[in-house]
Formats: sequence, structure tokens, C-alpha cells
Amino acid sequence: TQKPRLYSGMQPSADSLQAGNYIGALLQWREMQNSYDAFFSVVDLHAITVPQDPAELREKTRRTAAQYIAAGIEPSKSTLYVQSHVRAHAELAWILSTITGFGEAGRMTQFKDKSARYGADSASVGLFTYPVLMAADILLYQSELVPVGDDQKQHVELTRDLAERFNKRFGKTFTVPKAVIQKDTARIYDLQNPTSKMSKSAESDAGVLWLLDDPAKSAKKIMRAVTDTEGSVRYDRENKPGVSNLLTIYAALSGRQVGSIEDEYAGRGYGDFKKGLAEVVVNEFGPVRERVLELLDDPAELDRILAANAARADEVADATLRDVYDKVGL
Ligand code: ADP
Ligand code: NA
Repeated sequence: TQKPRLYSGMQPSADSLQAGNYIGALLQWREMQNSYDAFFSVVDLHAITVPQDPAELREKTRRTAAQYIAAGIEPSKSTLYVQSHVRAHAELAWILSTITGFGEAGRMTQFKDKSARYGADSASVGLFTYPVLMAADILLYQSELVPVGDDQKQHVELTRDLAERFNKRFGKTFTVPKAVIQKDTARIYDLQNPTSKMSKSAESDAGVLWLLDDPAKSAKKIMRAVTDTEGSVRYDRENKPGVSNLLTIYAALSGRQVGSIEDEYAGRGYGDFKKGLAEVVVNEFGPVRERVLELLDDPAELDRILAANAARADEVADATLRDVYDKVGL
């Protein structure tokens, strides 16, 4: 029996993923790949909606793919591929753009945020139509589920609207997907600014834990993480965002409950707690980092994996695209 399809992806927008990507996305994907026919993409076509250096982009794309594999996404179980290797993404995006309202696209809050950052004149049309490309990504694979962060919820809503609109106008073609919003406990915040989410594109990386960083550097960042003056290791998101964030990371990477960690550190200071967390982080990220370096050391093997997976993705995507061309009259 066919497992339900699942689609997700990440942009190759940095040399390394950060702890939030690992906990909020990769760990969940790793779990879900057993129950779903999962497609995990490195979305390089999305990355070029803002300026990229070509050689660096290619390198970041390979590194991101290597991190998926090292984190436990199995290329023989899931389809793990680079978006631009499958031409149907760009082609379907064009067709979907013709049924997307200008005003509808203009309501996407992520574009408003990002274009404000780049300035209206330097924001590209590609940045504006980014959600339409994302809709194409999802719909090509007839995906039922799309695990995403909060910030992508609106884009999945648009995807659903476009799928329903297309189906209504041209006959049943697309599966209408559902977003799976990541759990609150999978949301990681910046170590220096624990009310904003940890991000690859943070202005300063002082509060970002990189998956591929030197372990000693990560340990140092944890020791310097912002806490509070109360001195007790206790989860309270509202009043103790720093400590709560550290507890979330600790729990996610050790597989323990927050309560058991609180108990362990009861009556002890933040220094001890941070040392314990640093150990957990180094133990978890260290082997992932080693595996990434191995994969990057054998470019032919990584290319072989990515090509084989792109071929599998292409087969599924092309079937959908052919149906779409036929329905539209192309
Ligand atoms: P970034 O902000 O690091 O560039 P993206 O927005 O590209 O990350 O998100 C890639 C994936 O990682 C998404 O599934 C997103 O939900 C997840 N993710 C990113 N940052 C975090 C975070 N701080 N906590 C939990 N999950 C995160
Ligand atoms: Na990003």
C-alpha cells in the first residue's frame, strides 16, 4: 500500500544549518520519513530570490544536502534532492502564477517583511512570487502533508487555495495538502535574544548554534547565553525566556522531559546547567558534523545520491506536470 506523501524543504542560505533547523525540522523529518513517502528538497530556486554568489550557492546547496543525510534523512527511504535538478518546479510555478491573483500574492506577510528589508526597488519579482513556487513544490508531488514553521502557514493556505481553484477550473488534478505546524516545543530561540527565533539569517550569530561549528565554539556560546537573575532552572516561557529556551534545546537533543532536567539541576546554578547542555549539544552535533565532513570529502558519492534521488523526484513531478499541461491545453 502506498504511504501518504509528505513534502518539506529548506533554503541553502548558509554554510551550516542552525540548531532550530535541526530540532524544528530535521529531527521531525527523520521521524516522519518512516510513515510517509517523503520528499525533502534543498530549495535553491527559492534561495536565488535574493542575491547569491553562484559558487557559494552551489557549495551551500551541497552542504545543506549533506546535513540532511548526516542528520538521518535516508536517501534510500526518502527522496532527498535539489529543487533545481527537477525542472518541473519552475514550469508548474509559471502555470500556477497565471491563476494567482495579484492582490492575493500581495497579502503574503513574508513578502511584506522581506521586501521591507531589501527596499521596494531591490526586492525582485521572484521574491514576490516565492509562495507560488512553493505551491508548485508541494503540488507536484501530490503531497498530503507539509511540515512547516508558523511563518509558512500562510503560504500553505495559498497552496490549498490554488489547488482547489485549479481543480475546480480544470478538473481534479492536485491533492489539497495540509500544513503540519511544528510543535511549540520544537521552536528554538536566539541564545542572545530569546524572544526572537534562532535563524540562519540572524544579524549577529552570537546567539546562533551552528550544526557544523567547532564544538568548543558552541560550548562557549552556550556558556554566554542570556538567562535571568533568579538563578533557578525552571521552565517559564513568559518570565524566563532564556532559561526556557535552553531547557527546550536540552530536552529535544537528549530525548528527556523538561521536568526531569529541572529536577536534575534543582538547587544548582546556571553555570552547571549550561555545562550540562554544552555536553548534550556537543554529543549530538559532533557525530553529525563528522558525517557531513565525510560526505563532503567524497563529492562523487554525494552527486550520485543526489542524481538518483532527483531522478525519482522527476518521475513523480513530471507525471503531474504532464497532466497539468494537458488540462490547461498546452
Ligand atoms: P532560517 O531562519 O534558519 O533560515 P528557515 O526559515 O529557512 O530557517 O526554515 C527552515 C526550516 O527550519 C523550517 O522547517 C523551519 O520551521 C525550521 N526552523 C527554522 N528556524 C527554527 C527555529 N528557530 N526553531 C525551530 N524550527 C526552526
Ligand atoms: Na531563511
